[in-house]
Amino acid sequence: MKKAFVTWITGQDGSYLVELLLSKWYEVHWIKRRSSSFNTSRIDHLFEEKDFTIHYWDLSDSTNLIKLISEIKPDEIYNLAAQSHVAVSFDMPEYTADTVWIGTLRLLEAIKVAWIEKTCKFYQASTSELFWGLEYNRPEAWYTEESPMHPRSPYWCAKLYAMWITRNYKESYNMFACNGILFNHESPNRWETFVTRKITMAVAKISLWLQEKLYLWNLDAKRDWGHAKDYVEAMYLMLQQDEPKDYVISTWVTNTVRDFVNWSFEEVWIELEWKWKWEDEKWYNKANWECLVEVDSRYFRPAEVDFLLWDSTKARKELWWTPKYTVREMCKEMVAYDIQIFKKQEILKNHGYEILEQYEI
Ligand code: NAP
Ligand code: GDD
Repeated sequence: MKKAFVTWITGQDGSYLVELLLSKWYEVHWIKRRSSSFNTSRIDHLFEEKDFTIHYWDLSDSTNLIKLISEIKPDEIYNLAAQSHVAVSFDMPEYTADTVWIGTLRLLEAIKVAWIEKTCKFYQASTSELFWGLEYNRPEAWYTEESPMHPRSPYWCAKLYAMWITRNYKESYNMFACNGILFNHESPNRWETFVTRKITMAVAKISLWLQEKLYLWNLDAKRDWGHAKDYVEAMYLMLQQDEPKDYVISTWVTNTVRDFVNWSFEEVWIELEWKWKWEDEKWYNKANWECLVEVDSRYFRPAEVDFLLWDSTKARKELWWTPKYTVREMCKEMVAYDIQIFKKQEILKNHGYEILEQYEI
């Protein structure tokens, strides 16, 4: 039985990856950092699994990491943990660098210290936003693993280092270490601080009269959105190859945040009309002229990636990977899921149960 070490599964990708690995009979070592509140809702259903063990660790802690890696001696390590919010990285650049970049280095060093660099395969969660699409936004051109990189936030600068240190350990120590350059992927397990889930939760609440308005910032940003379930399969496939290689994982379809807002409201039969005056954009419900969406400068980012679309031919040819979900199907699933959870919450509240309120997102 193969052993996998997955950092971090309270997040979106970790929750799906662990399900996938358990279905393939892996012994999964699940890493979590200490939290004073419960944040395991995405994986609570797995607690009864016998091949599933929880350990505590934080990306900033080398001592416990070396102990864990030396004891477990995993066959595969998936490094998913990160302070992964781009806007927050502008507020906390030093913490972001320490955890995202030095955290990756700590993991690679721990593999060496445990003497498993020849047997353990390492996956690094790299990101699409190492490429800044705006300057390449030409329909006749497409971009691949080899295209020039131009990170636009402290988060992406940290991820760029993490990517190169992974490549460096592969070249220097002949390790099986690779980077998955994943474009945005979403799902009902996406945390609500990211734009798609923020939208689908707000739309669900608005349709149930539990929220009045949705506040957003850059509605024209374009993203190549896929489904996280498809993307964790690509992570797994990368570590099953004979050679470690970096792969772009994307759907090769791009849409604006504005499109995602429209689709989400369409799912609850609300038609919007927008009125725009410079940055003061407002969207109204055509049925009663209530304002439902507004632009709010609180979500401004000092530097923005406006456009993302990349070519994943290499992964499709070599990994035989192909996305199963379209972005519209994913949006539909997310809105339906959110309506269901808020309906359940309302029923529980009406029966006198106390429900923790969602925080401001
Ligand atoms: P996510 O939902 O934000 O999950 C990140 C996880 O990292 C959370 O479980 C979080 O734990 C943990 N974490 C944060 N700081 C930590 C620290 N100091 N020590 C230990 N753990 C820490 O992210 P995701 O969407 O699943 O993405 C997984 C990885 O892929 C991330 O590295 C992300 O940067 C990268 N990525 C994501 C996308 C995407 O579109 N989803 C695209 C490209 C790359 P808590 O729950 O305790 O906060
Ligand atoms: N989060 C957020 N909240 N984003 C907003 C909002 C808002 O209220 N309004 C507009 N946006 C815009 C952002 O400015 C950005 O252009 C776009 O929506 C997507 O934002 P996010 O969903 O936060 O994702 P991201 O692209 O910045 O980063 C995600 O994808 C990367 C891969 O491309 C994260 O998962 C990163 O960890 C990941 O590397």
